[in-house]
This record gives sequence, C-alpha cells and structure tokens, in this order.
Amino acid sequence: MGEYHISGGKCLSGQLKVYGAKNAVLPMLAATVLSKNISVIHNCPEISDTFMAVKILESVGAKVTIENDSLIISTATIDNCEVPDKYVREMRSSIIFLGSMLARCGKVKISYPGGCPLGTRPIDLHIKGMRALGATVIEEPEFIFAEAKKLIGTRIDLDFPSVGATENIMLAAVLAEGQTIISNAAKEPEIVDLQNFLLTMGAKVSGAGSDVIVIDGVVIDDLHDGEHFVMPDRIVAGTYLCAAAITGGELLLTNIIPEHLHPITSKLAETNCEIQMEGSKVYLRAPKRLKSIERIRTHPHPGFPTDMQPQLMALLSTAWGVSIIEETLFESRNKHVPELNRMGADITLLSNGMTSVINGPSNLRGANVECMDLRGGAALIIAGLGAKGMTIVKNSMFVERGYVRIEEDLRKIGADIWCVG
Ligand code: UD1
Repeated sequence: MGEYHISGGKCLSGQLKVYGAKNAVLPMLAATVLSKNISVIHNCPEISDTFMAVKILESVGAKVTIENDSLIISTATIDNCEVPDKYVREMRSSIIFLGSMLARCGKVKISYPGGCPLGTRPIDLHIKGMRALGATVIEEPEFIFAEAKKLIGTRIDLDFPSVGATENIMLAAVLAEGQTIISNAAKEPEIVDLQNFLLTMGAKVSGAGSDVIVIDGVVIDDLHDGEHFVMPDRIVAGTYLCAAAITGGELLLTNIIPEHLHPITSKLAETNCEIQMEGSKVYLRAPKRLKSIERIRTHPHPGFPTDMQPQLMALLSTAWGVSIIEETLFESRNKHVPELNRMGADITLLSNGMTSVINGPSNLRGANVECMDLRGGAALIIAGLGAKGMTIVKNSMFVERGYVRIEEDLRKIGADIWCVG
C-alpha cells in the first residue's frame, strides 16, 4: 500500500494549473447512459474514482476510449441493468448510476455504495426521488432494485439540498414524461456543470445553481451526441492554496473559476493570507503570522465546503489563536484530528464528534500518520509540508481517489514529497 514521504519545512512557491473536478465528472459519466449516442468529456481528472466510473460504464455495456484527459463514451450498446457490486462498494458516488440507469433501462439493480468512511451516509433522498418519479424501489439488505415502465415528471421538494440526490433526480427526469421540478435543490457548481453537459446532449434542464431546477422530459431519440469540458476542481484549488499557506509561501493557480472559490478564499483571507483574483487565476501569499478564525461552519454551497474542512483545519493548527470548526454534514469527517495531534497540533474534538477546537499556533513536527479518507489525507499532507522533519502519511490510495499525482504537483512548487510503494 502506498504512502507519502514528506520532508517538511520547505517554503512553497510557484504556479500550478487546476485540473477537472472529480465531483463534476462522475455525474457526467453517469449521464452518458441516458442517450444512445456518443459523449465526449474533456478535462477529466486521472483519478481512481474516474477509472472506477469508467469500469461501471463498461460493465453495463458502454464502450469507453481514453485519449489523454478526454473520455469518448459510446452508449448504444448498453445491455445490462445490473451495476456490479465490486465497483459500487469502492465508490459512494456510484449511486449516481441509479437514476440514469433506471431511466435508460427501465430497471436497475445496484448495491449500497461505499467510498470514504464518513459515517452514516444515507441515500433515502435518492430513493424518495425515484419513487416520486413513479419507480418501484425495493430495498434488500445487500442491494437496491428499482423499476419503472415509465417515469413521470413531478414536483419533488427535497428535505435537504443533497448534491447526489439532486443529480440523481435530474438524470432520471431527463427521460421522464412531462416536467419535473426539484425544489430545495443543491446549488453546488458541479450541478451547474452537469446541467451544461446535459444541454449539450439535447436534454431540457434549467435552473441549476438556484434552488429550483426544472427538467422537461424528452424521449431517448431526441438526445444526441454531447461534448463538454469539465469545470476545474475547486477543492483541489483550495487544497493547494492551503499547502502554500502553511509553508509561508506563495502560489498562483491558473484555470480556476473565481466565484467557485470565494467560500474558500474568503476564509483564507481571514487568516491574513493575501488573495488576488483576476480572470481565471488566483494568487495567494501567506502572511508572516497566520491568524485563527473564530468560527467556521461547513454548509452546502455557497457556504464553506465540508470537503475543505480538514485541509483548513491543518492550516489553522499553525495559526495564532483559537479557531472553531463545526462540521454539519458528515459525522465521521474528523478522523484526521488525532493524526494531526500526533504531529503536535492541539485540537480538541468535542463529544458530539463534529466540533473541533483548534488551539494555535502549534509547531508541527514530522510523524507517522494514517490517512483514513480522501480530504483527511490531504490535510495530513498539508500538515506534513508545514512540519519540521519527516512525515509519513500511510494509505495514499484514499488521496489518489481525488487528486491527480498530488506529489508531482507539490514538487513542482518546491515540496519534498514522494509517493512510495
Ligand atoms: C457530494 C460530494 C462530496 C461532498 C458532499 C457535500 C460527490 C461525488 N460527492 O456527496 O464530496 O462532501 O456532496 O458537499 O459529488 N443525505 C441524506 N440522505 C440522502 C443523501 C444525503 O440524509 O439521501 C445527507 C448526508 O448524510 C449528508 C448531507 O445530506 O449529511 C449531504 O450529503 P450530499 O449532499 O448528498 O453529499 P453527497 O452527494 O454524498
């Protein structure tokens, strides 16, 4: 199993280009099964989650060609409505195939999703959505079976603006009869990107980015070839900015969308980092002394993203003063806390497991730590870059789910980090 070896304390400086977003490409890959045509998706990140989704597509009969960071997917040959267990268990977001496969095949069998162990991650809203569209959904202990002779558009008021449930309902509704209205929809930029891709395929969707999304169903033969460039990954961008900041360095990121980054850069500005945005670039220069942030709550977009919480926590452990981070979305998102403490951080996780009190500044020191999920792993790498001495972060596979060879990018800006094994 791979691990990162980081010799910390090097001041990072330079320029990096941000690649396509994991959370945007996965629902797009699921969307391709809606049509019998060819979809071309550019700027796909070469991460293990992308390759897992490609395996799912191939297992249901699609043909996928990979050309650099472009995927060419032909879905005319889809002939299997069963999504294999082994792939679904590896990746939670594979549940996104529920809606599109149901719409395409009229039935689908899919296991319960796996992915990062972030506590209970229910899918009740996905299932409610499919039922509202007229599907019969049978929940067995090991798998879900959904069937519908015909999906019928309807109004769906989500109890919570779940990203995955919003996307799943959007996808199923593309081929439903009549109009579907999703209210209290998730507003994440990745949902807008999914809408943009669906439009290129001939789907009729509007409203993504607001809390009401309207889908006018079409018949499958109305869909055609689609082509799209995946939006840049705002979480990768935020991770790199934190990496530069913890080392007292500076970084210019290209290929970013400023509005996507504001919830993150506004917090970095509160730590006294200098932030400049122009066009598709963001520049960060770390201050002499990072300042704590009194209180941060994770929140659906445009709030501070839960996917940046661990990385910001690593940074704040070296900032002057007390910071409080309240996680509101995932109950087991704080597995990195004891590991950061092993590196010399002073973080108390309150008994609810969701609120962290970070007492800074700590002088981080290298240690052997274990990564237990994707963003927690990124946080440990950031801490390792800011620590004195050698840090070994075990279980690189979690990080590889969402970052394209992170060690190579970080080396380009002066880090001493290697992925071994
Ligand atoms: C997506 C992202 C993930 C990010 C998360 C929140 C992808 C592939 N993953 O995950 O990186 O951390 O959004 O921004 O895009 N919930 C329910 N019932 C459901 C569905 C969700 O109660 O049926 C709850 C979850 O337990 C959680 C909250 O809603 O507390 C947010 O989950 P959701 O927005 O669905 O996240 P994901 O789509 O899983």
